[in-house]
Amino acid sequence: MQENLTGAAGLTAQRSYSDSGLTAKRSERHALYLAPMEDVTDPAFRMLCKRYGADRVYTEFVNADALVRDIASTTRKLTIHDAERPVAIQIYGREPEAMRDAALIVEQAHPDFIDINFGCPVKKVAGKGAGAGLLRDVPKMLEITKAVVNAVHTPVTAKTRLGWDESDLTPKYNPLGLNSLPFREGAGVGSSSYFIVDLAEALQDCGITELAIHGRTRSQMYRGEADWTLIGEVKNNPRMHIPVIGNGDVCTPERAKECFDRYGVDAIMIGRATFGAPWLFAEMKEFLSTNPVFQSEGRSFSETVFQRSGLSAAPPRSMAEKVNVLKEHVLYAIQWCGNDERKGIIHSRRHFAASPVFKGLADFKQTRIALLRAETKEEVFAIMDSIVAQWGEE
Ligand SMILES: Cc1cc2nc3c(=O)[nH]c(=O)nc-3n(C[C@H](O)[C@H](O)[C@H](O)COP(=O)(O)O)c2cc1C
Repeated sequence: MQENLTGAAGLTAQRSYSDSGLTAKRSERHALYLAPMEDVTDPAFRMLCKRYGADRVYTEFVNADALVRDIASTTRKLTIHDAERPVAIQIYGREPEAMRDAALIVEQAHPDFIDINFGCPVKKVAGKGAGAGLLRDVPKMLEITKAVVNAVHTPVTAKTRLGWDESDLTPKYNPLGLNSLPFREGAGVGSSSYFIVDLAEALQDCGITELAIHGRTRSQMYRGEADWTLIGEVKNNPRMHIPVIGNGDVCTPERAKECFDRYGVDAIMIGRATFGAPWLFAEMKEFLSTNPVFQSEGRSFSETVFQRSGLSAAPPRSMAEKVNVLKEHVLYAIQWCGNDERKGIIHSRRHFAASPVFKGLADFKQTRIALLRAETKEEVFAIMDSIVAQWGEE
């Protein structure tokens, strides 16, 4: 990593608004984004994903009220580096004024995008009327969106879910010619429409520049399979003109291709599958570039990808190469945790636990336990080296 992660937290990255405006207008069709993830998408991990070709990275969500109160642990989450651009900082909250004020604070960190979280399902967020909680109060969601869009010069994007619960997954019939949402008009008499299709249009009308949709409802939390058909409905709505980003359960290059092919989304956002595997982006790009089907602005998709992949590293192939990337991640994580070795290692454990590198190894249980208990980098690295020595050829 070229930049020191322990540098001044927060409002340091240099970039003018006009720069970020240009970034937003550039078409990033068929792009792959790193999803925002609490406690996961810190600068250390974002930088690695960027190296392997993520076209955009997101910070974890940042609480608007805590930003306004200038809580140090929260403002630290605004730390971004030029090397990871384009980067979005995501905020969440339940009051338009606090969200507007938070967006103004975020703008001073010069992100390329300010993203609003309308999808977090957990009780401490949604239960208090923020995140996915706003799916039950759409007028307020739109008020928040307008307040943020009108306050800042940075492009504003949003991320949401298909709806609150199952009842939002069937089209609502409108004998009076109203759309399924009472706050919208326009559909013809007798038409029917899906909640998310109407919501997407309404958010677009508020001035967001892109919309990401996780193919689950709030009630589903992370259970069941993400439903991409409704994401496709949004994308195929002729009145939608902003890019639509699909999200949910995209774990393999094959699935990424299928989602682009079938649902026509402009970008795919990838979350959990990147744990312990930041090189997944490079694997996906490689696959997409050798199996092109798309046309993008007159050029074949593969041409577009090859142009971009000039900037990103090739994916590691062997276990030894992959383990080296994981070691590097540990070093970056320690740096991000203020050079506190133990903290950095504990912070990295989620990645060791989920990494595909350590999946399916015979008689691995005891080694896995040791790896997840190690507290110094010497211990972690020695265990990783022993894994390569024992299982590297499998
Ligand atoms: C540990 C974890 C933390 C998350 N934190 C956030 C967050 O801060 N903001 C957000 O919009 N979504 C958050 N999400 C949801 C992801 O961005 C994504 O929508 C979800 O994981 C589905 O995508 P996937 O199947 O590719 O993982 C989080 C998910 C996980 C697993």
